[in-house]
Amino acid sequence: MNDIDRYAVFGHPIKHSKSPRIHHLFAEQTAQNIEYTAQDVPAEQFQFAITRFFSEGGKGLNCTLPLKELAWDFADHKTGRAELSKAVNTLALQPDGSILGDNTDGHGLVTDLITNHAISLTGIRILILGAGGASRGIIAPLLEHGSKTVVIANRTVDKAIKLAAEFQGKGLITGCGFEDLKNQEFDLILNATSASLSGQLPPLPSGLLSEGGNCYDLAYGNEPTAFVRWGMANHAQKSLDGLGMLVEQAAEAFFIWRGVHPKTSIVIELLDSERH
Ligand code: ATR
Repeated sequence: MNDIDRYAVFGHPIKHSKSPRIHHLFAEQTAQNIEYTAQDVPAEQFQFAITRFFSEGGKGLNCTLPLKELAWDFADHKTGRAELSKAVNTLALQPDGSILGDNTDGHGLVTDLITNHAISLTGIRILILGAGGASRGIIAPLLEHGSKTVVIANRTVDKAIKLAAEFQGKGLITGCGFEDLKNQEFDLILNATSASLSGQLPPLPSGLLSEGGNCYDLAYGNEPTAFVRWGMANHAQKSLDGLGMLVEQAAEAFFIWRGVHPKTSIVIELLDSERH
């Protein structure tokens, strides 16, 4: 009988996932006895794989692309932030046998911005590029932290307008196309398009970033992403990628599962040092 508590991340592709490494570093640091594996699970195998995982004693699961919406459907009940984002990245077995779904992505982003990089969100003008699942997960936390305005710009303009409308009651938020960004200025620009992964950039007018403004790409890689490079070329005070967000969302999941907060800065520094 295996008495180690079992956790995993499901996704497709999953080969390059840093999550097993991150959670094992957290476990070592907090003296928790856990196993955490990465499993390649395409969407069509999700139902089978997740049912088997929990029936075989799995305690908690992370889900990444393209499974976050399926995980949302699977959860027996969800936290408020998961309900809002319509996506679940963390599932936790409850004492009564039910499965709780949460979304720690937004928390990961704002913690990385505010705590790790001292970027205040209060009173600032934020631009989010993209209107897919990645954007949806971060809107509420950004509004809740006191931003002045949030604009969502997307290639398919309709999606940006619809997404903004969903969060209307929570703050000043609008949706538009990239064309409409001319003559506008933002203090923080977040890239949540999947274009970044293939080295592409949405068409962005010059003068979009305010003096002293910051850029943040939700994606990350061993090399600076196309958007991180755009930020540098446009004189961003900081032009960051999503490594810190990845570690912070993992730390929040770890806390949900194990009840302890791991220290994140040493893990971020370690992973960062390994890519240079
Ligand atoms: P995710 O869940 O990762 O957000 P998604 O729902 O497929 O993935 O959304 C991807 C986002 O990246 C969308 O906003 C998409 O724009 P469209 O809604 O117009 O498809 C955006 N995107 C992908 N490739 C892009 C590109 N080359 N240029 C601009 N935006 C792009």
